[in-house]
Amino acid sequence: MNFDIDKIRNDFPILKETIYNKPLVYLDNAATTQKPQVVLDKLMEVYTKYNANIHRGVHFMSNKATTETETARKIIQQFLDAPNSHEVIFTRGATEGINLVAQSFGEQFVHPGDEIIVSEMEHHSNLVPWQLMAEKRGATLKKWPFTQAGELELPVLEKLISNKTRIIAVTHVSNSLGTINSVKEIIEIAHKRNVPVLIDGAQAVQHLAVDVQKLDCDFYVFSGHKIYGPTGIGVVYGKEQWLNQMPPYQGGGEMIESVSFEKTTFNQLPYKFEAGTPNYVDTIALAEAIKYVNELGIENIAAYESELLIYGQTKLLTIPGLEIIGNAWNKASVISFNLKGLHPFDVGTILDKMGIAVRTGTHCTEPVMQHFGIPGTVRASFAFYNTKQEIDELYKGLLKVVELFK
Ligand code: ALA
Repeated sequence: MNFDIDKIRNDFPILKETIYNKPLVYLDNAATTQKPQVVLDKLMEVYTKYNANIHRGVHFMSNKATTETETARKIIQQFLDAPNSHEVIFTRGATEGINLVAQSFGEQFVHPGDEIIVSEMEHHSNLVPWQLMAEKRGATLKKWPFTQAGELELPVLEKLISNKTRIIAVTHVSNSLGTINSVKEIIEIAHKRNVPVLIDGAQAVQHLAVDVQKLDCDFYVFSGHKIYGPTGIGVVYGKEQWLNQMPPYQGGGEMIESVSFEKTTFNQLPYKFEAGTPNYVDTIALAEAIKYVNELGIENIAAYESELLIYGQTKLLTIPGLEIIGNAWNKASVISFNLKGLHPFDVGTILDKMGIAVRTGTHCTEPVMQHFGIPGTVRASFAFYNTKQEIDELYKGLLKVVELFK
């Protein structure tokens, strides 16, 4: 595998930081990823060379910023293998993307008595927007439960779908369990019953290849900051057939075709869903992050991260009293765990003093924690710039925590 880890780590300036005089061991990549120099340079380039509002000016800089933004849209279209670039909509993040679909799709297609299916392992971002919409539209939210291993079973879904099901929302990769869901099979089952599917790809696009045409998903959302891009930028892919029928989510500039006090008509896709000055700077930098990922090769990334996962799970499981939460057969590089008798918060706080960054708590998936009857977990999540040595540091850190609380 052509994977020069030293060179890769050199591309990420923050990885050289020390925390309490200890080398940073950053294992909180499911919360947010660090940025390579090319992304940081791109942000600076836009702000220092051609910062101007897009789609609005006749001047050079506005045209340049507009062209770069639309090129970014095409790069993301290719990254997802979306049929058309106008099916790629920019939002503030995955959360806003899901809210957009839930509200707009709901307004058009969900009526009193209808049903929406959401899995039990969803991040709150792929649960609460559907709850809000269901309440507004007089619809019912149905839970698709997962097994003790943290897997979603297809026969259970088949039974849950009814003639009243209007949409299914499910995550591609669980942020707290690491489970990679069989989204292609889920979509096949749903489509046999004419039910569209939204896939939350916030934890997937940075780990595995996504092809929205092969998946045949109706909507796919992700966040820029989780794929080495800036915060405040996200993507909704939606099939044209749905997006064209859906009403605008927000009103303002750019989403209009013409406005009078009597009547407003709306712009075509994708602008219909991009009200206000778009976050063009972060859009352009996101494309740079995706180019970086493409150069490494998502298959190489997946293979390397899978090695880290196996190494990490095997090593951590030798620690007395350590239990892994989320044991699906197909997992992304996320290890959620607890140490017997210890609160995740205490474990995370002590690890922090050693320069090791992990996330602790419910990870915005309270229903997952309720399922297991636990207050939360400690979560170590790996990116392609992490190393086995860093996992060794985590292992040693955890042994010290165990020793301390003996
Ligand atoms: N969704 C992010 C996480 O899982 C914040 O940590």
